Amino acid sequence: MTRATILHSTFGAALVGLLACSDPERVPRATGTDVDDDGASDSSESGAPVEVDLAMVRAAAEAYADLAPLTDVHELAETHADAAAVRVWGTPDAQDPFEAIDPDDPTVVATFPVDTILVKEHFDSDGGMFGLNVMYKAPEGYNPAGNDWYWLEIRGDEITHSGRVGFCMDCHEAAINSDFVVGFGKSQ
Ligand code: HEC
Repeated sequence: MTRATILHSTFGAALVGLLACSDPERVPRATGTDVDDDGASDSSESGAPVEVDLAMVRAAAEAYADLAPLTDVHELAETHADAAAVRVWGTPDAQDPFEAIDPDDPTVVATFPVDTILVKEHFDSDGGMFGLNVMYKAPEGYNPAGNDWYWLEIRGDEITHSGRVGFCMDCHEAAINSDFVVGFGKSQ
C-alpha cells in the first residue's frame, strides 16, 4: 500500500488525528491484532479492553518524516545491536520530556503524553535505513505493566514484534523514571 493510499483510507483520519492533535478524544479507539502480546491483561476505567490498531501505529511510524527529529544520527546503538547508527523521531509533545532525560542521571523524571509516538530509525554500516523500532503511548489501561506503551519492530516490510512485547519492556524498564524512554548514553 502506498502512503497516498494509506492517507486516503479509513484509518488515515486516525493518523491525522494522532499527528495533529493531542486531544485523545479525537483519536479513534481502533481495533487490531497484536502479534506477540507478552504482557498484562487489558483493562480501562470503564472495564472495557483498551485496544491499539497495529495498522494505525505502523502507518504513523512509517510517516516518521512528518514528526520532529529528537536526535541526530547517533553511532551509539550498542544495545540495539543490529544497527550501526540510529536516529529518533517523535511527536512534538515528546520533545520536551525527551530532552529532559539526562543520560548521566537516571533519577530524572519524565513522562510522555497519550498518543506520543517515538520512532527509532536503524541504519546499516552503509547508511541504509533497514528498520524501525517504535513506541506508541496508548490510552490508559492498555498495558499497565509497561506504562501503557505499545511496542513495534519493523524490519523491511515485516512486522517482527508488536504489542506488549516482553523483551522490549524488560530492557526499557531500566528507564522507569523517564517513562521507559532510554534516551542516549544511559546504558553506558
Ligand atoms: C537490550 C536492551 C533493549 C532492548 C531489548 C530494547 N531496547 Fe529500545 N532502546 C534501548 C536503548 C539503550 C536505547 C537508547 C538508544 C540506543 O542505544 O539505541 C533504546 C531506544 C529505543 C527507542 C527510542 C526512545 C528511547 O527509549 O530512547 C525506541 C522507540 C525503542 N528503543 C524501541 C524498542 C522496541 C520496540 C524494542 C523491542 C522490539 C526495544 N526497544 C528493545 C535498549 C533496548
